[in-house]
Amino acid sequence: MRYSDVADQLDEVLVTEEQIRARLDELARDVERDYAGEIPLLVGVLKGAVMVMADFARALHIPVMMDWMAVSSYGNTTQSSGVVRILKDLDTDVANRHVLIVEDIIDTGLTLTWLRENLLSRGATSVKILTVLRKPDAVVADIVPDYLGFDIPNKFVVGYGLDYAERYRHLRDVAVLSPHVYADGE
Ligand code: PRP
Repeated sequence: MRYSDVADQLDEVLVTEEQIRARLDELARDVERDYAGEIPLLVGVLKGAVMVMADFARALHIPVMMDWMAVSSYGNTTQSSGVVRILKDLDTDVANRHVLIVEDIIDTGLTLTWLRENLLSRGATSVKILTVLRKPDAVVADIVPDYLGFDIPNKFVVGYGLDYAERYRHLRDVAVLSPHVYADGE
């Protein structure tokens, strides 16, 4: 889905599909260099990371394994609660593995703070973080991504995996949701 399909529900585009693709290619080169000789385990955080996992993994020229977790901290609201629950656990044993968490966004950073500690406690050799987006003004946790796509303002954004009430995940760009959408509860 493109911006023009839902232009009446969006304010400005913050990051275009082309910008994301180009930045993921650059990050893929960094990851290839940093993990040379290793087979890292990419851990995608459902559901928002589906798009970035698909694009980033295919940009890589080194072998990787992939697994998924689902954790929930939001529900259907626009505010982060910081409460993390495992909805779906990994199928893979991460002990003695180099883990690269693949995320769509660091908002408060609470989800990734918890997830990084959780994976380290299972015996992962290393746990690094790749995120497409970060809201520096919203971060409250002591979390710094190892691989960062873009810093964005602290606005309600959708697209490229990010949703509002499960909608807009398939928007190709990252855009600001018009306040009238969530004010109306459309
Ligand atoms: C979003 C996002 C991150 C988390 C970031 O997931 O995908 O996992 O919130 O927020 P934080 O930095 O404030 O912890 P969400 O819980 O909305 O689930 P979803 O990926 O299924 O949409």
